[in-house]
Amino acid sequence: MTRYKVRATKPRKLQRNFTESRLTHNRIMSFNTFGHLFRVTTFGESHGPAIGCVIDGCPPRIPLTEADIQPYLDRRRPGQSRYTTQRQEPDAVKILSGVFVDEASGKQVTTGTPIALLIDNVDQRSKDYSDIKDKYRPGHADYTYDVKYGLRDYRGGGRQSARETAMRVAAGAIARKIVPGLKVRGALVQMGPHRVDRARWDWEEIDRNPFFCPDAKTAAVLGDYLDGLRKRGSSIGAVIEIVADGVPAGLGAPIYGKLDGDLAGALMGINAVKGVEIGAGFGAAELTGEQNGDEMRVGNDGKPRFLSNNAGGILGGISTGQPVVARFAVKPTSSILIPRRTVDRYGHETDISTIGRHDPCVGIRAVPIGEAMVACVIADHYLRQRGQVGETPSWPFSAPVR
Ligand SMILES: Cc1cc2nc3c(=O)[nH]c(=O)nc-3n(C[C@H](O)[C@H](O)[C@H](O)COP(=O)(O)O)c2cc1C
Repeated sequence: MTRYKVRATKPRKLQRNFTESRLTHNRIMSFNTFGHLFRVTTFGESHGPAIGCVIDGCPPRIPLTEADIQPYLDRRRPGQSRYTTQRQEPDAVKILSGVFVDEASGKQVTTGTPIALLIDNVDQRSKDYSDIKDKYRPGHADYTYDVKYGLRDYRGGGRQSARETAMRVAAGAIARKIVPGLKVRGALVQMGPHRVDRARWDWEEIDRNPFFCPDAKTAAVLGDYLDGLRKRGSSIGAVIEIVADGVPAGLGAPIYGKLDGDLAGALMGINAVKGVEIGAGFGAAELTGEQNGDEMRVGNDGKPRFLSNNAGGILGGISTGQPVVARFAVKPTSSILIPRRTVDRYGHETDISTIGRHDPCVGIRAVPIGEAMVACVIADHYLRQRGQVGETPSWPFSAPVR
């Protein structure tokens, strides 16, 4: 009798736990996929033959060719200045599926079926890693991959390498096309002790220097600063800010699918990211209620106008229609020439010094990656809003007739 009761209750419990975990985590195993309706799965390793992704859920009839994706990849591409890794990867993207030439317009458009993208790896130098194949780089994920899986692809960091993020940038290029009027831009706002002066912020400037820095005066000192660090065999961290304009009000799914929650998860999912904040972020801890709450007025267009944006464009996990503002902190590159103390996989204490080609500040190339992740999350929420609510209600509402 007792045995029968145990058997009867156990499967029900398991079923409930499974459903609950699905609510908070749409990705069951093995966590190489993100998004709900705009769903991106990436594959590939740093020194494998290629990297790629499959984007499922992209709506049909959106014009799409490689030329729409390539400019974004070119911004992230390594080897473009002496301030990033010298690995030479053209990152030429191929669309393998999910597009077709529409007879009516003569344009290649998405078909609504999975879009597979592929980028060949062409400049691997695996021998650079043979010295450290059994040793763990302090700050890198060598130990954790080893202790989790019992083996690791040490060549260029394998799957733990940020090489994979090229596919996120490619997916982001498609995501940007889904939300009408969406403009997602990113900038490096701090490198080591050097912070931008917001009074000198100029979006045009980010394309004029190799650091994606919006302040010309700060950008002018970053080159010498990085050269000095590199000569010492060191590296440095950075803060990146992403601003998404044109995000319609109403995106976000409380409670477990908040827009800010999903943005934080997506940005935290970028390699080397150690902190994320939205709007005033951690600075909100220093504010009083009347300083922090963004006051409202009715604008000339009859739409609500916020007098500030401490919320970073999100309240209650739902977009307000203001620009969505997110910042993330990136740690310094762990692969450095300066010798560090560590252990090897056989339990011996040893020292390590990493040769090979590495970014002295990974925060620079993290800018286009951050933009892409924000674009993917917003596109996903845009499609979710359309799926659940249809057209977002128009504000102001009519007053009830009394
Ligand atoms: C664009 C970019 C480039 C990176 N390049 C390097 C690199 O050259 N060398 C390195 O040690 N880490 C590099 N990283 C960081 C590692 O991928 C990351 O620290 C590692 O995977 C461990 O993960 P975690 O830092 O998220 O814990 C890079 C990160 C990004 C975003």
